[in-house]
Amino acid sequence: MGLLSSLHFKLAVLVTTTAAALAAAEAQTKPGCNYTCGNVSIPYPFGTSENCYRDEDLYFFLNCTTTISPSSGEATTQLFSEDVQVLNISLDPPELTVSGDVSKHCYGFNDDVSGNWMMFPNYSISNTKNRFTVVGCDTYAFVEDLNGTFTTGCVSSCSKETRFEEAGACSGVGCCQTSFPETIRDYNITLLSFKNYTKVRDFNPCGYAFIAKKGSFNFSKRELRDLSNRTEFPVVLDWAVPNQTCREAQKDARRYACKQNSTCKEPRSGIGYYCVCEDGFKGNPYLDTGCKDINECDGDNRCSRICHNVDGNYTCSCPWGYGGDGYKDRSGCKSPFKEISLGISVCFLVIFTLVSTLCWGNKQRALKQLKRQYFERNGGNYLLQLLHQQQGYIDRTKIFTEDELKIATNNFHESRILGHGGQGTVYKGILPDNSFVAIKKSRVGGDSRQVKDFINEVTVLSQVNHRNVVKLFGCCLETEVPLLVYEFVDNGTLFDRIDPLKNEHSLSWETRLRIAAETAGAISYLHSSASIPIIHRDIKSANILLDHNHMAKVSDFGASRLIPLDEAQVSTVVQGTLGYLDPEYLLTGQLNEKSDVYSFGVVLLELLTGKKPYEFLRLEQKNLATYFASSMKEGSLLEVIDKRVLNQKYVEQLQEVAFLARRCIRVHGEKRPTMKEVATELEGLIAMKRHSWVKGEDMMFEERECLLGHAAASTSAGYDGAYGNVSANTFATYDCIQKQMAFEIADGR
Ligand SMILES: *[C@@H]1O[C@H](CO)[C@@H](O)[C@H](O)[C@H]1NC(C)=O
Ligand SMILES: *[C@@H]1O[C@H](CO)[C@@H](O)[C@H](O)[C@H]1NC(C)=O
Ligand SMILES: *[C@@H]1O[C@H](CO)[C@@H](O)[C@H](O)[C@H]1NC(C)=O
Ligand SMILES: *[C@@H]1O[C@H](CO)[C@@H](O)[C@H](O)[C@H]1NC(C)=O
Ligand SMILES: *[C@@H]1O[C@H](CO)[C@@H](O)[C@H](O)[C@H]1NC(C)=O
Ligand SMILES: *[C@@H]1O[C@H](CO)[C@@H](O)[C@H](O)[C@H]1NC(C)=O
Ligand SMILES: *[C@@H]1O[C@H](CO)[C@@H](O)[C@H](O)[C@H]1NC(C)=O
Ligand SMILES: *[C@@H]1O[C@H](CO)[C@@H](O)[C@H](O)[C@H]1NC(C)=O
Ligand SMILES: *[C@@H]1O[C@H](CO)[C@@H](O)[C@H](O)[C@H]1NC(C)=O
Ligand SMILES: *[C@@H]1O[C@H](CO)[C@@H](O)[C@H](O)[C@H]1NC(C)=O
Ligand SMILES: *[C@@H]1O[C@H](CO)[C@@H](O)[C@H](O)[C@H]1NC(C)=O
Ligand SMILES: *[C@@H]1O[C@H](CO)[C@@H](O)[C@H](O)[C@H]1NC(C)=O
Repeated sequence: MGLLSSLHFKLAVLVTTTAAALAAAEAQTKPGCNYTCGNVSIPYPFGTSENCYRDEDLYFFLNCTTTISPSSGEATTQLFSEDVQVLNISLDPPELTVSGDVSKHCYGFNDDVSGNWMMFPNYSISNTKNRFTVVGCDTYAFVEDLNGTFTTGCVSSCSKETRFEEAGACSGVGCCQTSFPETIRDYNITLLSFKNYTKVRDFNPCGYAFIAKKGSFNFSKRELRDLSNRTEFPVVLDWAVPNQTCREAQKDARRYACKQNSTCKEPRSGIGYYCVCEDGFKGNPYLDTGCKDINECDGDNRCSRICHNVDGNYTCSCPWGYGGDGYKDRSGCKSPFKEISLGISVCFLVIFTLVSTLCWGNKQRALKQLKRQYFERNGGNYLLQLLHQQQGYIDRTKIFTEDELKIATNNFHESRILGHGGQGTVYKGILPDNSFVAIKKSRVGGDSRQVKDFINEVTVLSQVNHRNVVKLFGCCLETEVPLLVYEFVDNGTLFDRIDPLKNEHSLSWETRLRIAAETAGAISYLHSSASIPIIHRDIKSANILLDHNHMAKVSDFGASRLIPLDEAQVSTVVQGTLGYLDPEYLLTGQLNEKSDVYSFGVVLLELLTGKKPYEFLRLEQKNLATYFASSMKEGSLLEVIDKRVLNQKYVEQLQEVAFLARRCIRVHGEKRPTMKEVATELEGLIAMKRHSWVKGEDMMFEERECLLGHAAASTSAGYDGAYGNVSANTFATYDCIQKQMAFEIADGR
């Protein structure tokens, strides 16, 4: 009681406005009322002055007093309910925190320690928030209400040896705690010692007991020591609007304490009711302004994207195009980017496809146009027309596409080059069926003459089907320069094979003779057997290809001419190769079959002599034909025969062929034999030889005599005119050659 008495000494002094005015606290108070006292904020229904508290017989009146300490002169502003200091006021939960006294009893001070009582007539002591605590080493205490309807207590003991730090919690050693019933409004604490502190008086001669807010006292040795100067502990009281239940209160709307957007609740202990703001509202439910809507969208909410505040609640939504309900804890907002990006990608894909298709289409069209242009420039139309006219042959001539030939030649790779001819480059190609072909690519920038040559070759070859004529499989006209696709002949040209410099293992005479016969047969066929006579115009050893069996294949028909049947001679620009060129044709420009005979004669000479048809460095005669003719005339034939084939066995054959060659290279075309005669004669020679092998040496000799006689007879028939003219012919030939050379040099080649 003595400790409490100091609280009665109060001075009504002006309450200084020292405390920081909190807007929140102000909003909790009636307008114009003091909303704080000291540092305690005072929410309505409490108040410190008239009209500021709820009119309930001073039930909610609190006395705000400023006391000036007599010793130090310091002013302290404190809030009181009667003589109990109020430390804090809370609306929800409805609680007052007040200052409670500590009962203390020490050895030798006062035997009578009972009577420390407190009374809160308008409030009940919260039995959930407070505990009855006894501290001491030889102490027991009990608490009862003033009415004596309940009593509870506990015993605390310890010795000098007790280590409180280890004991820690308030568990009966130095400290004990107990709870008490609800709805009590007052208490009377009695504090006693069992043994008059006899054993502990030297180290802890006091005992303490108090009702205090849970957690405001944590027992420790230090707390035990500090307790000696501690007089107060916070105590939590429950308050309520008195005397009525919610139902009763709501009947009188004027007196009803809970204002708009609030609900009425009843406390567990005691009678009365209190008010709380409904969910989604905050504020003071006892004020007329009441509970205000909480704008949840400004604070924490469950919206993942868009928040709409409504009265007492809020809703979530998602931006346009998003999926989901917008609540974080539910489906949230599904980013539409997946769909949108998918849509966009699909769009882009479609656009890209369209554009690229268009571009590709354009490119393809352009390419097609280019190919068509090439086709026309390359005489494709003319060729097709020609081929159409020659029904039946068209099947043999295939029109290849550029792509097919690119694949076949590995894109015209260098490694595939077989050789460079006068008219272009020849590549080795492999068709999809693994067959080999030779692909001739004309020189780039093919002028009209080359195109003509090319068309010519196609048309000529398309007419021809002879085992000793190289086959034309087809052509390609889509490229800048036309391409021809031939049968692949793998063993080089005759020219190369008889060149003494290039070949150690030269062709045997038998092979040479067979090649001559085959070539002659082919040319003869061209001249007579083909549907329209063809003059090759460029017979030479370089145009005679050899396959792996050394079978001859006449090729390169670029210069060839088709001779309509009713015309024996055709006037053309002179074309051919130096050394093989028919002197008569060179002079007159009149082309006929005998020009090929002359050229073939020169090939025969090559086979016989192994010499080149024209050599500037040859001492005796640059032109092989002239040289050979003069050699024969001088009777030194054997000296010009190729040493590699000169064999006693063959002398007669060599002579026969030499005579034949001599006839072929006569200056006057009329006096030359036809190709058919030449071919027959050569084949006859071969047959004779074969025969002789069968019959033996003697027989062969006989026949040879016979054949020689025949040959002599047949040759001598043509000699009459020729012999007298040999020198003249020779000179004429020489003249022609000189003219041809001059012509060619002037031409810039
Ligand atoms: C407030 O307390 C002071 C001091 O105890 C006292 O003088 C005053 O009358 C009280 N005021 C009211 C309205 O009770
Ligand atoms: C507010 O407190 C001051 C000082 O304590 C007092 O003078 C004044 O009257 C109070 N005002 C109201 C409205 O209670
Ligand atoms: C008020 O101030 C005192 C000291 O000035 C302090 O002990 C107390 O806890 C404060 N109360 C509140 C509610 O802030
Ligand atoms: C309790 O309320 C009554 C009015 O009902 C009031 O007269 C009395 O002063 C109040 N007591 C305390 C301690 O506040
Ligand atoms: C006073 O009560 C309010 C509301 O319950 C609370 O937030 C605050 O911490 C309390 N202050 C003290 C010092 O107990
Ligand atoms: C408190 O209890 C003691 C005895 O335990 C008694 O003597 C005293 O009168 C009581 N005080 C009050 C106010 O009832
Ligand atoms: C004492 O208790 C009785 C019955 O329990 C009750 O009627 C009476 O009001 C109480 N008196 C006080 C002062 O608490
Ligand atoms: C306790 O001891 C003191 C001092 O020795 C003595 O005055 C007092 O009577 C004793 N009290 C009891 C109950 O023995
Ligand atoms: C208690 O207060 C007294 C005087 O105010 C002081 O001398 C003493 O040291 C204090 N004790 C503790 C444990 O704070
Ligand atoms: C509440 O009821 C008690 C007794 O029933 C009475 O004394 C008191 O004045 C009432 N308080 C109010 C505010 O009506
Ligand atoms: C809140 O109060 C206002 C005003 O009385 C009322 O219009 C509104 O419906 C109330 N809201 C709720 C959720 O009760
Ligand atoms: C708000 O509304 C939702 C349903 O829309 C409901 O689940 C929730 O409890 C409400 N919250 C409040 C505070 O009314």
